[in-house]
Amino acid sequence: MGGRALTSSGETLFATTERLILRKPRPEDLEPLIVSWSDPEMTRFTGLRTDVRSFVAQMIADAQAKDPGAPDSATPWYQFIVERRSDGAMIGDLGVGFGLPGERQVELGYRIHPEAQGRGYAREAVAALISYLVENHSIHRFVGIAASGNERSKRLLTTLGFRHEGNFRRSFLCHGEWLDDDYFALLAEEWRAGETARGDREPAREGRS
Ligand SMILES: CC(C)(COP(=O)(O)OP(=O)(O)OC[C@H]1O[C@@H](n2cnc3c(N)ncnc32)[C@H](O)[C@@H]1OP(=O)(O)O)[C@@H](O)C(=O)NCCC(=O)NCCS
Repeated sequence: MGGRALTSSGETLFATTERLILRKPRPEDLEPLIVSWSDPEMTRFTGLRTDVRSFVAQMIADAQAKDPGAPDSATPWYQFIVERRSDGAMIGDLGVGFGLPGERQVELGYRIHPEAQGRGYAREAVAALISYLVENHSIHRFVGIAASGNERSKRLLTTLGFRHEGNFRRSFLCHGEWLDDDYFALLAEEWRAGETARGDREPAREGRS
């Protein structure tokens, strides 16, 4: 897993894992993202945008024009594309709300397309994203908000080491229904401690290089 890098084609890669890369959105991501952001199962607990095509087109244009966490941006959100290395397929997208709810904090969103779910891709992608944000943006605290009925999202956050910090009653209007929201958070220091415990980081080299 590495920090930000450029490919030979000049494309920005924010992180790479064994199976995935996190990259900037491209114009050709438009149609598959529209399908994904319109899918009833994918939007069951997130709600549906009124004009999905405009929303996704704006999201791509915005992410192409700026770097993650750029100050003075029209929106605090930056969308990362999750691409599978074995076949180059775009299998999901991750949203990062910089400065939410405060300085050096981010709110995370994550979506893995239905045909790629259940294979550990969400865990692998979000873990890579957290490490990238700790190392490159000095993020101190990560927030995940899941509708209480979104069991897969809550399980993902718990598996990654997030702590359940609260339940907000009927706080999210989704498809015309008021849903409860569960709030989760993870501190960078907790993430680093978990990495060490899991052995994610390469051991420090002995001697001088
Ligand atoms: C939430 C969401 C991203 C989770 O994606 P996912 O594909 O189910 O997540 P993962 O594949 O990482 O984990 C799912 C299961 O696969 C298992 N798995 C299978 N193969 C695996 C592998 N090779 N490595 C690790 N885990 C693996 C995991 O253990 C996990 O099982 P568990 O939940 O019983 O522990 C996905 O359901 C989604 O996109 N939902 C719609 C959008 C949404 O609601 N987003 C959240 C808004 S808050």
